[in-house]
Amino acid sequence: MKKRIAIFASGSGSNAQKIMEHFKRHADAEVVLILSNNPEAFVLQRADNFEIPSQVFDKRDLYESDEIVELLRRANIDLIILAGFLWLIPQNLLKAFPNRIINIHPSLLPAYGGKGMYGDKVHRAVIAAGESESGITIHFVNEHFDEGEIIYQARFKIEPGDDIETVRFKGQHLEHQHYPRIVEAIVRKLPEE
Ligand code: GAR
Repeated sequence: MKKRIAIFASGSGSNAQKIMEHFKRHADAEVVLILSNNPEAFVLQRADNFEIPSQVFDKRDLYESDEIVELLRRANIDLIILAGFLWLIPQNLLKAFPNRIINIHPSLLPAYGGKGMYGDKVHRAVIAAGESESGITIHFVNEHFDEGEIIYQARFKIEPGDDIETVRFKGQHLEHQHYPRIVEAIVRKLPEE
C-alpha cells in the first residue's frame, strides 16, 4: 500500500509544491491532504492545481480539540510534512504520530532556530551576524520549535556582498533539491502495515 502524506503549510508552499510533484506518480507514497492555518496561503492554490484536497483550520481546531488528529486519522495519514508551517505542533498530534512529523528549517540548527525564527527573519539574522555559511535542516518535530532530532543538513557559502535575496535563493534551492528525496527516504523506512 502507498504511504499517505499530509503537508502542513502556512504560506507560499514552494516546498509543498516540490513534494507534490515528486510524489505525483510515485510507487511508494502520495500526497493526499494539504492543511493550512492561513485561508490566504498560496499553497491552497497549489493544492488545487494538483487536485489534492485541502483544509483550513484555526487555533481552536488545533489547540483546543482533537479535530485535526481525527481528520488525519480518517484520512489514514502515515507521515506529516511541515513545509513552512509556523505554529507549534501540539501534544495530541505528536502523540498520535510519533516520529512521523518532519519539518524543514532554513538554517543550520541549532543555530538560528526557535520561536519567531522563520523565513526571512532567519536569513536576516545570519547576514547580520556576518556568517560565512548557512544551510538547511530537516528534522523530526517535537514539542519545542526546531529542536527535534536532526535527519539531514546541507550547507551553502555566503559570499561577501550576498544580500537577503541571494541567501534566501541559495537556501530555497537546497530545500527544493533535498526535501522531497529525504521524505522519500523516510517513507521507505516506515513499517509495512
Ligand atoms: C522555507 O524556507 C522553510 O524552511 C521555512 O519557511 C519557508 C517556507 O517556504 N520554514 C521555517 O522557517 C520554519 N521555522 P515555502 O512556503 O515556499 O515552502
